[in-house]
Amino acid sequence: MKIDLIISADDIKREKVEGKSVVVIDMLRATSVIVTAINNGCQGIIPVLTVEEAFTIANRDRKVYVLGGEREALKIDGFNFSNSPLEYKRNSVEGKNLVITTSNGTRAIRGSVGAKNILIGALINARAVADRLIELNNDIVIVNAGTYGQFSMDDFICSGYIIHCIADKKSDIELTDISKTASYIYGENKDVLRFIKGATHYKRMKELKLDHDLNYCCQKDIIEVVPEYRDGLIS
Ligand code: MLT
Repeated sequence: MKIDLIISADDIKREKVEGKSVVVIDMLRATSVIVTAINNGCQGIIPVLTVEEAFTIANRDRKVYVLGGEREALKIDGFNFSNSPLEYKRNSVEGKNLVITTSNGTRAIRGSVGAKNILIGALINARAVADRLIELNNDIVIVNAGTYGQFSMDDFICSGYIIHCIADKKSDIELTDISKTASYIYGENKDVLRFIKGATHYKRMKELKLDHDLNYCCQKDIIEVVPEYRDGLIS
């Protein structure tokens, strides 16, 4: 089982993900939102690239669809939710269909089409993701959403933790140089919140006083569900 890693949504190449088990990571905050919403009973999530596309789908029936996401980390006008995972509580999302658009995370999910499986991962469900990847028993590509096409420390260290969780249970894994580096970085920095203090998106969230989101997203393994994207829908 080979484990490779792609550092941003802009760097995804179809031939790299085709036929592989992909896990998309945008721990601050898109994939943390998706994992939380599904864990709280959200029926399905449709990731879209533009705000217009989101409204077009949701306007089919505003009782069935709710809208969530961000631009520049802020709530979008006319949307029900921002991109704070703390808003996706059971009483808000249970039985609902969420249409979501974010700057990097939803692009990374959509960009991974062609993979055999597209799992949604974050620190909050990392160990469950690792277990599912072992079960799938296929070559793995960890897709980091990154930040506007740039490498991001948060997604990278989260990937390192997932690799550690896989390595705990499986010895015959082959790491590319970049996944080896992610694993090494996590091994040296197990306090994820502390490590990501220098990250660009961490700083943006601090400016916006989103400390509760940062604390929530930096918890390891509080959720067991592993959402999967298939035929346009995450469930
Ligand atoms: C993204 O998709 O870029 C993020 O989730 C951004 C955010 O949460 O602010």
